[in-house]
Amino acid sequence: MIALGSDHGGYALKKEIMKHLDEKGIAYKDFGTYTEDSCDYPLYGEEVGKAVVSGEYERGIIICGTGIGISIAANKVRGVRAALCGDCYSAEFTRRHNDANVLALGARVIGPGLALKIVDIFLNTEFEGGRHAKRVDLISDIEARHI
Ligand code: RB5
Repeated sequence: MIALGSDHGGYALKKEIMKHLDEKGIAYKDFGTYTEDSCDYPLYGEEVGKAVVSGEYERGIIICGTGIGISIAANKVRGVRAALCGDCYSAEFTRRHNDANVLALGARVIGPGLALKIVDIFLNTEFEGGRHAKRVDLISDIEARHI
């Protein structure tokens, strides 16, 4: 199950992603926003982050205009590793090496074709573990000290 969220800047791309997930038979829940009216991206970053760390949702996908604000917000939730990706290589390696559990996209930065490719890679790539697990643990240690 995937948790989705966006502000108004990411709303149209989120709709495209929902259609794409429907076609692939992948279940998701949309945590808002539900209209194109101007709204505040931190709220949706936090909601999706909470959903993912609750364990009820395997991964999250969050979208705003740049993908930056909403990823910063989601990363304030303990246990979230949100990665802003604008290319396929980053999407693959943030899963393989960082075990990113939330994908952030910038709807005003990349087009829908590339965004859907990035989504597919993010959802279909496994964490490699090994030496990367130790590094992810070090990130958690920072979180424990500062958040
Ligand atoms: C909204 O205008 C815009 O600031 C937001 O979507 C995002 O780009 C913030 O980082």
